[in-house]
Amino acid sequence: MKILAIVGSLRAESLNRQLAGLAASAVGSRAEFEILEFGGVPLFNQELEYPAPEVVAAVRQKVLQADGVWFFTPEYNHSYPGVLKNLIDWLSRPRGEDEPQVLFGKPAAISGITPGMSGTGLAQDHLVTLLSFLNMRIMNTPRLVIPSAMTQVTDGKLTLTESAEFLRIQADAFVSFVGGRAR
Ligand SMILES: Cc1cc2nc3c(=O)[nH]c(=O)nc-3n(C[C@H](O)[C@H](O)[C@H](O)COP(=O)(O)O)c2cc1C
Repeated sequence: MKILAIVGSLRAESLNRQLAGLAASAVGSRAEFEILEFGGVPLFNQELEYPAPEVVAAVRQKVLQADGVWFFTPEYNHSYPGVLKNLIDWLSRPRGEDEPQVLFGKPAAISGITPGMSGTGLAQDHLVTLLSFLNMRIMNTPRLVIPSAMTQVTDGKLTLTESAEFLRIQADAFVSFVGGRAR
């Protein structure tokens, strides 16, 4: 089983990227787990669509090969970040005639973490609307919403002391969900 993580933050020390790293450990040997690198994807421009830039073709291929996609989204102004929307806009376009867009039917999980009180709940709700429109198969429960991140950070490193159990529960659920088993 292959799980592809898409992190909606490009910064190296991103809390959400660190959360994805901890999710990889929670999944363990049950799946290959890879964080998608998409910092080189250009701003979407319909004039650039065909043929797709190489970097876009490469990220589409990664999604195509994944059995499930796990989103880790920050919250920007009560929504998900523009870099994530830009990536999803590229992924949402058909690759060619009779080749549907790569997100179609893919199992999806959503998590997020913020230093503030929101925990990314609002951003996640917006993301659900977008991913539903694209016909992803979203695991709506459990989702993981982590507020007050700094209480779980030591020396800049996310330790996830209190939330680790919830991440483990979500990882178990997503492995089952991707494998087609209800929990
Ligand atoms: C443009 C911008 C808007 C933000 N808006 C929100 C917000 O609406 N709610 C919130 O909880 N945090 C908000 N934040 C703070 C982010 O949650 C915080 O920067 C977080 O660490 C970003 O995720 P990352 O660590 O994965 O990069 C915002 C940050 C930025 C840069």
